[in-house]
Amino acid sequence: MTQDEQKRAVAAAAIEHISIGSIIGVGTGSTANYFIDELAKVKHKIDGAVASSDATAKRLQSHGIEVIDLNNVDDLPVYIDGADEITPHLHMIKGGGGALTREKIVSAVARKFVCITDQSKLVDVLGNFPLPIEVIPMARSYVAREILLLGGQPALRQGFITDNGNVILDVHGLQILNPVEMESALNQITGIVTNGLFARRAADLLLLGTDEGVKTMH
Ligand code: 5RP
Repeated sequence: MTQDEQKRAVAAAAIEHISIGSIIGVGTGSTANYFIDELAKVKHKIDGAVASSDATAKRLQSHGIEVIDLNNVDDLPVYIDGADEITPHLHMIKGGGGALTREKIVSAVARKFVCITDQSKLVDVLGNFPLPIEVIPMARSYVAREILLLGGQPALRQGFITDNGNVILDVHGLQILNPVEMESALNQITGIVTNGLFARRAADLLLLGTDEGVKTMH
């Protein structure tokens, strides 16, 4: 299977993880887009969706799926999203699409995080993919200096502003052996809105697209 076919296969498999009559948390990116297309086929069975980005909200609405404000949601049984890297412990790097802050908020609310990726995303150690960090614009230089002290090489994502009006620093050169510790350390730097490590709240389940079909990892 090609990478794209693997993404479509895991998106289809994720439909098994939604409950009838519930609101679904929906991620951002090409794999999440395939999931939205699958969700459209069963839209009469769900009450609506919470979107993790403006792009996802638009795609959901284009399929006639109601987008609900997270503030009006008491219970979110499941959040379904892709990742840029994921380990066998289901720790992730996310934010390649720049939607990390809303993704982290929606996944924090969700009772279950189902990650859907093709096999290229599975790694033993996080960090080969540059770690995205959303930063308040006036703190950009300060945060970059702090990241250098942690051993990373920050690069400003050119021409990109997040849905929240902030900038992204993509941090190269990190070998993240303890993602929970690194996520917490980055959370302490003033000016960082969100870092793209999803380790303190990891995925609960990974649906991995492989040449042999969809594999499930817990
Ligand atoms: C967006 C994300 C995506 O989940 C991540 O970039 C994976 O994208 P794709 O499914 O296109 O490979 O975190 O902010």
